[in-house]
Amino acid sequence: MFFYCLDTFEKVEQKPIGEGFFGTVHKVRAKIDCSLNFALKVIPARRHYTPKKEVDALKSLSHAHIVRYYNSYEETTDDFFKTSRIIMEFCDGSLQSQMPSLKQDSAKVLDLMAQMAKVSKYMMDQELLHRDIKPGNILLQWRPSTDQDLCFKPGLRPFYKLADFGCVSI
Ligand SMILES: Nc1ncnc2c1ncn2[C@@H]1O[C@H](COP(=O)(O)OP(=O)(O)OP(=O)(O)O)[C@@H](O)[C@H]1O
Ligand SMILES: [Mg+2]
Repeated sequence: MFFYCLDTFEKVEQKPIGEGFFGTVHKVRAKIDCSLNFALKVIPARRHYTPKKEVDALKSLSHAHIVRYYNSYEETTDDFFKTSRIIMEFCDGSLQSQMPSLKQDSAKVLDLMAQMAKVSKYMMDQELLHRDIKPGNILLQWRPSTDQDLCFKPGLRPFYKLADFGCVSI
């Protein structure tokens, strides 16, 4: 990657794009090329939690249906606590927002299952358990549908990406 320090990124919008129990996620872009968007997950220092496992898992995984890791940073806030930041691939949203439309469309559910089956097989081959698979941890990117994607033609199809490896077992 051509950028290494956190200063090479800037927030695209002040409001976070997502919030979970452990972290807050912002949409950021590389100052050097504003057309490149990334997601920045900020994990504040906590007494009994370190995101080392999450970062190590993300670093070691490489699959089309897993959110891509780019870099991570640690900032010591005092002698014991560290705030962590992870730069990863930007996604358009999560499965959570798609749940109402999926309930009425079995073809869309089948498409989701087919994509998740591929990533499940990959995770099994890596001997890793995600342990927190839920709609908020399945992100998606909207991609143009092809002629083969019968249920989405014409238009856009969700390309799902497994994220949030905070509970991973190694
Ligand atoms: N790469 C990304 N691109 C776009 N949005 C994202 C990305 N990563 C996370 N988000 C959004 O931020 C939310 C919280 O992120 P994440 O699940 O990683 O945080 P967490 O604190 O570990 O969550 P949890 O409460 O599940 O433990 C996600 O549900 C999603 O909406
Ligand atoms: Mg989550």
